[in-house]
Amino acid sequence: MGEKIRIAIAGYGNVGRGVKAAIEASSDMVLCGIVSRNPERVKKELGASDIMVMDINDIAGWTRELSPDLAILCGGSSTDLPVQGPKLAAHLSTVDSFDNHGEIPNYFNAMDKAAHDSGNVAVISTGWDPGIFSLERVLASSFIPGVKPYGFYGLSESGGLSMGHSDAIRRIPGVKDARQYTHAEPDAIAKVRSGGNPVLTAGEMHWRECFIVLEDSADAGAVEETVKNMPNYFAPYRTVVNFITQDELNIRFSGFPHGGCVIASGTTAEGGSAQIEYQCNWGSNPAATASVLVAHARATMRLKKDGKSGAFTILDIPPAYFSNLSREELLKKFM
Ligand SMILES: NC(=O)c1ccc[n+]([C@@H]2O[C@H](COP(=O)([O-])OP(=O)(O)OC[C@H]3O[C@@H](n4cnc5c(N)ncnc54)[C@H](OP(=O)(O)O)[C@@H]3O)[C@@H](O)[C@H]2O)c1
Repeated sequence: MGEKIRIAIAGYGNVGRGVKAAIEASSDMVLCGIVSRNPERVKKELGASDIMVMDINDIAGWTRELSPDLAILCGGSSTDLPVQGPKLAAHLSTVDSFDNHGEIPNYFNAMDKAAHDSGNVAVISTGWDPGIFSLERVLASSFIPGVKPYGFYGLSESGGLSMGHSDAIRRIPGVKDARQYTHAEPDAIAKVRSGGNPVLTAGEMHWRECFIVLEDSADAGAVEETVKNMPNYFAPYRTVVNFITQDELNIRFSGFPHGGCVIASGTTAEGGSAQIEYQCNWGSNPAATASVLVAHARATMRLKKDGKSGAFTILDIPPAYFSNLSREELLKKFM
């Protein structure tokens, strides 16, 4: 085996923890350090550990001390990555899971410029969605002419934990804690599978289930009304609100389970039925995202070796670049 890929983690939260575990489980990579806006918090969490933790803002310092081949950016998509991404891509190659779908073209342009100007590779917006599901949408729509790929989330009986929606509920005055589970509507899945690219509203495809812990003085009715009428987040959906105690919430809801599928159903040119489905079920959304991110770190090094620079997405990367198997092994095992 050649030299191990030296990876720095930039930003340490749920995805950062998953990336640490995924690097430690990979034989071709090594964690050279963690950089954070709050190194003391991270050091405290790591306890007795010899992992180097440095201030993310001292870019010259940590790129020199840790000498990473690349950084996996684990900051939040709403306010962290739009600032941190281009700043860091100007200094080293990066991989991130930026998931603000509507903003991806702008983010791509900013990262492309920063990475091109510095000769680095910036792989953006990977994970499972955007990421694997983006690739599946492109494959399905290229392989079945005229088909529309649909995404469904929360396929299991308990649904999938939506971190963004849970966060939105926690910001309502009177709410102490909350979890929001998204459920796919089985009738909508059946309609999509039967073909014909049906027109479905957001509310016809999913419903939302909320588990809320109230502050002592809170008005339950007012909180429920606020949740159900929240534009975009809940207003378009059938939303069920359950009030529970903090103990019940802690016991019932540990971890970050999620999952979903992409379905495309239509016909080939001569009229034969054609359906593609791709499904993911994750015990932990951030751990799954982390697993995808580290495979992209491998691909990033190969793009660099090819002399490439600029921004890339999963759509631009040959699948063999994600694997640590040789071409011979891939041909034998998977073709
Ligand atoms: N593409 C996909 O499929 C996919 C899937 C899941 C998530 N994501 C993306 O991944 C992003 C990160 O998710 P996440 O769950 O890791 O978010 P998170 O736990 O909130 O962490 C985001 C950042 O917040 C800071 N932070 C974390 N815990 C903190 C604490 N206790 N106190 C103060 N600051 C803290 C960390 O930055 P510092 O260390 O600098 O303080 C961290 O990098 C999300 O915004 C989402 O966009 C993408």
